[in-house]
Amino acid sequence: MSGQFKDPSLGPQYPLPPRAVDAAYYLDPAQYEREIERIFLRSWMPACSSKELPNPRDYVVWDRLRQSVVIARQQDGSVAAWHNVCRHRGARLVEKSGHCKFGKFKCPWHGFSYDLTGKCTGVPLRESFDQRDLVDLRTVPVRVAEWNGLVWLALHDDIPELREYLGDLWDELGYYHMENFEIRYRQSAELNANWKVVIDAFNETWHVPSTHQETLSGLMLWRDARLKICSPHSWMTLPIAGYTEKAGPNADHHEANVCHYTAFPNTIFSCFPTHLQMWSAWPMSPTKTLLTAWGVVGPAPAGLTEEKWAEISDRNWAHFLSVLAEDSRGLNDLQYRRGPLERISRRGDAKGRPALIQTFVSLVNDAKLDASRATAC
Ligand code: FES
Ligand SMILES: [Fe+2]
Repeated sequence: MSGQFKDPSLGPQYPLPPRAVDAAYYLDPAQYEREIERIFLRSWMPACSSKELPNPRDYVVWDRLRQSVVIARQQDGSVAAWHNVCRHRGARLVEKSGHCKFGKFKCPWHGFSYDLTGKCTGVPLRESFDQRDLVDLRTVPVRVAEWNGLVWLALHDDIPELREYLGDLWDELGYYHMENFEIRYRQSAELNANWKVVIDAFNETWHVPSTHQETLSGLMLWRDARLKICSPHSWMTLPIAGYTEKAGPNADHHEANVCHYTAFPNTIFSCFPTHLQMWSAWPMSPTKTLLTAWGVVGPAPAGLTEEKWAEISDRNWAHFLSVLAEDSRGLNDLQYRRGPLERISRRGDAKGRPALIQTFVSLVNDAKLDASRATAC
């Protein structure tokens, strides 16, 4: 593939409507609840790194979206995930991530115990129960997949397997072989903004010359960003000053650009050939979002010592934190009023300006937030 996407192979990548977005799209509590139930609880989402559970009996407690899930490494090396809720009276079973020495989790309330798969293996005063209620008793399982160095969760049965769900992103992200990378840096921040605003902010380049005057505007050729929609996901290539051109027109786009992928609904992978930043916007309320950011670093590139690579990686992460701080300042200050969105030509002659906002609005709306969709989550 060429270093840049070229017309006309782009095809119709810029959806035209909507021309403006109502404030209710961001503020309406009912819309928010529908999004949680019908988007977040029906999507695959990366929950943690595989390297957080290197050994059998290691486990991670994932608390997001008003859910709590235990992800546990099994004796055979696979992972299992289950709701962190005791089947007796609903107590939270496991407090925090760790290593389960004996492979048994004991409920703190009345002492039911569960194995690594979430199966109930011990009931105190067993004779006081109707034995039929104890047959095959287990926590409610959660779908889990381990791919590209990450553990992904899906909180609903009615969605396809991860590969099908990711579509084009499967090959795009797979290119980086993130299983060879490690999450070396982490940062999180609560923002006073709706989760979609946060995603929007990282998917348009209009703000770069003003918001990121000091950090990005000289580095990214933001006017030349190229966008692609692979519904429900999207991505763009961002050329890098003094680098992309040197790589030549036939360079692979992964090697010559920052490739910026949005895995619907809430995770962005901003990939350089040797490292990447990955962040997720977790809704907390209509106007509050937890942004979690990870700095993911690959092996030292040829010709660099580990020490030098660590020094460069520290610098890359510090630069990213400065960018994030600039975005956060803006995001914490937003007022919601109906406002126009830039109208983008379907032919892509607007040079990749912020059509992803329109696209994201459409993708969210396409998720069928109407009542006709079943809600059994
Ligand atoms: S709620 Fe867990 S044992 Fe009773
Ligand atoms: Fe930004």
